[in-house]
Amino acid sequence: MKKFKQGYNTIYHGDALDVLAKEIEDSSMDLIFVDPPYNIGKKFGSFLDKWNTLDDYLLWSYKWIDQCIRALKPTGSMYIMTSTQAMPYFDIYISKRLKVLSRIVWHYDSSGVQAKNYFGSLYEPILHCVKSPNNYVFNSQDILVEAKTGSKRNLIDYRKPEPKPYNNFKVPGNVWYFPRVRYRMDEYEEHPSQKPEVLLERIIKASSNAGDYVLDPFAGTFTTGSVAKKLNRQFIGIEEQYEYIKTGLRRVFGFVELEGEFLKGPQKNYNKTKYDQDDVQDIFYGLL
Ligand SMILES: C[S@@+](CC[C@H](N)C(=O)[O-])C[C@H]1O[C@@H](n2cnc3c(N)ncnc32)[C@H](O)[C@@H]1O
Repeated sequence: MKKFKQGYNTIYHGDALDVLAKEIEDSSMDLIFVDPPYNIGKKFGSFLDKWNTLDDYLLWSYKWIDQCIRALKPTGSMYIMTSTQAMPYFDIYISKRLKVLSRIVWHYDSSGVQAKNYFGSLYEPILHCVKSPNNYVFNSQDILVEAKTGSKRNLIDYRKPEPKPYNNFKVPGNVWYFPRVRYRMDEYEEHPSQKPEVLLERIIKASSNAGDYVLDPFAGTFTTGSVAKKLNRQFIGIEEQYEYIKTGLRRVFGFVELEGEFLKGPQKNYNKTKYDQDDVQDIFYGLL
């Protein structure tokens, strides 16, 4: 295990279970965002995201879920993702230990190529859980979205002492549409499961305050760290693949060099083939 620290932010190169057990204190985290391997055969550097059986995957997952619950403050919130196949098991396990406030669907579209013999998967589930249902952070005013009423013009509320347009903003529901990170987006990194910054922005703004501790035990490209830093939270990220640690040091710490190696972002080639590069990857992984 190796620890990198800069200001209020910490990056651990190591195994999530090991780092959680040895480095993260009981009841110390305000927000934990967990986006683990999904057991669907993706390749993360030298790691293949596939367990021999579903039970093996669940037994491993229950260990880090227990560690995260231990690390969560009594007022803390946790968001957990996994595949649509595994989520029912996570939900049952977690519901016995935390209060699940929302079962969120993050949905997106693909640019045309779809499964032909079944309904292709175009969403990922997210559980939003808290330790204390009567005492948790939810900054609803920081995440308001426009309420689409179908009306083209702003209706005036004449019941007010001074007539004003109706409030056009609302707290988002539990179905979130955000495009996936595509090759042509500025935030794109070379990683098969990078989450978009807008997704993390909503979660971090809703469920933490400036100065709070935000933990991501499977940091990948460090989207959580990058957004947490911009929002002045204290970030702790864990990742076991060295390639992605370099991405994290570049994205969160602003490192341009590590041990003599220049840390450069993805070098993009805009010659497109038949499909968008992301779609080809999805076909490969059986997601389309
Ligand atoms: C689904 S990805 C996370 C993606 C991340 N949320 C992002 O936006 O880039 C899961 C990550 O967990 C890492 N990983 C797999 N096993 C791990 C372990 N035992 N400890 C720490 N990280 C691990 C993988 O290398 C991969 O980068």
